[in-house]
Amino acid sequence: MSSADEPWWRRAVVYQVYPRSFADSDGDGIGDIPGITSRLDHLAALGVDAVWLSPVYVSPHVDNGYDIADYQAIDPVFGTLEDLDALIAAMHERGMRLVMDLVVNHTSDEHPWFVASRDPANPKRSWYFWRPGRPDPDGGPGATLPPNNWSSVFLGSAWEQDAGGSYYLHSFAAKQPDLNWGEPAVREAIYSMMRWWLDRGVDGFRMDVINLISKPEGLPDAPGGPTAGNQLEMVVGDPGLHTYLAEMRREVFDRYPDRTFLTVGEMLAVTPEQAVLVTDPERRELDMVFQFEHVDVDHGQLGKYDPQPLDLRDLKASLARWQVALAERGWNSLYFNNHDQPRAISRWGDTSQYWRESATLLAGVLHMHRGTPFVYQGEEIGMTNYPFARIEEYRDIEAARAYEVATALGLPSELILGTMAKMSRDNARTPMQWDGEAHAGFTTGQPWLPVHLNHLWLNVADQVEDADSVLSFYKRLIALRKSEDVLTTGTFTLLEPDHKQLWAFLRADERDRLLVLANFSDDELGIPDGDAFTGLDGGRLLLGNYPDGGAPGPLRPWEFRAVYL
Ligand code: NOJ
Repeated sequence: MSSADEPWWRRAVVYQVYPRSFADSDGDGIGDIPGITSRLDHLAALGVDAVWLSPVYVSPHVDNGYDIADYQAIDPVFGTLEDLDALIAAMHERGMRLVMDLVVNHTSDEHPWFVASRDPANPKRSWYFWRPGRPDPDGGPGATLPPNNWSSVFLGSAWEQDAGGSYYLHSFAAKQPDLNWGEPAVREAIYSMMRWWLDRGVDGFRMDVINLISKPEGLPDAPGGPTAGNQLEMVVGDPGLHTYLAEMRREVFDRYPDRTFLTVGEMLAVTPEQAVLVTDPERRELDMVFQFEHVDVDHGQLGKYDPQPLDLRDLKASLARWQVALAERGWNSLYFNNHDQPRAISRWGDTSQYWRESATLLAGVLHMHRGTPFVYQGEEIGMTNYPFARIEEYRDIEAARAYEVATALGLPSELILGTMAKMSRDNARTPMQWDGEAHAGFTTGQPWLPVHLNHLWLNVADQVEDADSVLSFYKRLIALRKSEDVLTTGTFTLLEPDHKQLWAFLRADERDRLLVLANFSDDELGIPDGDAFTGLDGGRLLLGNYPDGGAPGPLRPWEFRAVYL
């Protein structure tokens, strides 16, 4: 592909805004759209090309807006449609694009479509998965069991029984019923809604759990026991996904031949092979995937709430595997942080002595890979996990469910709270730290989730003027995406895959060879001998995370260096 017909998003950096926690303009303690508009200069200065906005639609907010009751209206807590139009205009003025969240695997149970579907005689009945239960041999007369053994990603059965006795499928919370994409009228309604947003000026969609939309015929039982999200084994990889995505491309995006959008599919448990099928430009499905393999490498046998110390070799191997698999065809996003993950610096870095170094090292390593980097709000200043101590401090439905289930299993509360503090999604959702003033400049009211005390020294205002700050490093890094071709198009070779502290790789094209080195430890680390490292001392430093640049010699604690050989 020549760079003339290369789509803009290949050299783009995307910034994710979680609206509840970004900036509150009206003092109700919850972030909103006018708040985002008021902070656009921060994003423009950072140099990002596009913003992915997590859901702002009308919602009962059981999953913070990922449960939508009206796809074409803004929730009053976030503002109005006029506010959104103003945001789009203000972004376009600054040369930034807006990517909306598209949550169409499920709706809220308060969506009028679902409300209508509760009536077995209503034509909308087939818009969702309504099924009779299975007879329960151990129950009383008429007692039933759920239609199959699928379990929700948020734990417990994926089926909820309605007053009439039938069950409906919900891959997430009971208030998030799954839409039936097999019903053509559902697809038509979704495509028409998407066109309505594109007509308003939005520049693309991030598609929530999009690889779950096609369910296998007959909804067969999952093998093994009903472990959390066991249905993924049955649903992920269903070939119907490709038919739906190609149809969506034709029915929505192809209708705007003069515009280039960004489409990114969030995909649970996806393999690199499936990702290639989805993102191969010739197949005309999606532009890129947003996958989880690398952020799951430190999960233990019991999953996310069983975190293990990171083995750096696993993390390197995961990223490398995807680099290789998508080298010829397809495209990936690059991220360590988002609204569903604890803060990467708290998870894999050092938040005490080497806070600045590890925040910048993580960023440097990630952005030197091939793909489209995503920066999650607060990451650009090195925001850390919140010291959650009590269950009452959490707001996330997933945390509440995990606590409930673990307590019912008899696990000691200190143990549960200890792992939740490390892994909970609420760690990413505490308010953005704009300054060292009250509530970190996020709101004048009472914030919906507590502000981290470290806002006193960890905030945007303090970092703006400091050339050595995490924020300044991010600005330099983001600019490189535009100036250094090798980052977008170069080949990728992982070096020293078995090294436990060193992350090293080479990016290369016909003109350049860029060596990337990062020391994931508190100790000094010698550079290995070997052909791949020759030329390092005489090389040209592209970027380093120590203020004096990349002095020759061993890597200092948490040092990152990218050097043209
Ligand atoms: C993925 C979203 O990122 C997450 O926040 C949400 O809980 C689930 N999908 C369900 O929509």
